Amino acid sequence: MKNKISVSVMCADLLALGKDIRILEECGVDMLHVDVMDAHFVPNLTFGPDFIKKMQAFTDLPLDCHFMVTDPWLMLGKLQLRPQDIFTAHVEVETDHAALASAVHDAGARFGLAVSPDTPVEALQPHLAYLDTVTLMLVYPGFAGAKMVEGIMEKVGVCRRFLDAAGYPGIEISVDGSVSCERAQYMAGLGASIFVGGTAGIYRKGMDLHETIPAFRSFIGG
Ligand code: DX5
Ligand code: ZN
Repeated sequence: MKNKISVSVMCADLLALGKDIRILEECGVDMLHVDVMDAHFVPNLTFGPDFIKKMQAFTDLPLDCHFMVTDPWLMLGKLQLRPQDIFTAHVEVETDHAALASAVHDAGARFGLAVSPDTPVEALQPHLAYLDTVTLMLVYPGFAGAKMVEGIMEKVGVCRRFLDAAGYPGIEISVDGSVSCERAQYMAGLGASIFVGGTAGIYRKGMDLHETIPAFRSFIGG
């Protein structure tokens, strides 16, 4: 699996987002990570389906959509996913994940589940048959620039072994929250292949995207 950079849009200069996206394309990032929050599942509010539609019309880059919402169906119903997009709901949300995955797959896109820091990877067990990706949260979801939960990076190795042992070596592991270059390199060694770059890895103070993206790439390899 190629190691991929997914840049967190909520960390960009939102008033100059179009310009930023063109630079991200130029610099060869692999995806854009779109954090959708509903001020209910998490105590913050960000983008919604209309914003995602505008993004889809503006760029061919895959959108790695991370839904921190209690009703992922409401979001799915308002979207037209493209084959390159990923729809990620939270495993902690009570819903029919199998049906949700099947609706996402019908649209030709990929389906993922995100796992909050306090949730064990075993919670994924009933969902393995229809998962394309797993997003491991290294921070409590809801905010950019949050502090990494101590010891949480080891969960990547635990998750990789869990997925492999269950017969699903093809499910990709994404890591989200406080992913610096050094942490990304460490977690690449543990089996992660998608790295969400926010304030810790890509939008670093005083540094230009033309510097931070190649640097991040050199740490994750590939
Ligand atoms: C956290 C979000 C992340 C975040 C990652 O809830 O899901 O995407 O923006 O970036 P940093 O590096 O700021 O934690
Ligand atoms: Zn996210």
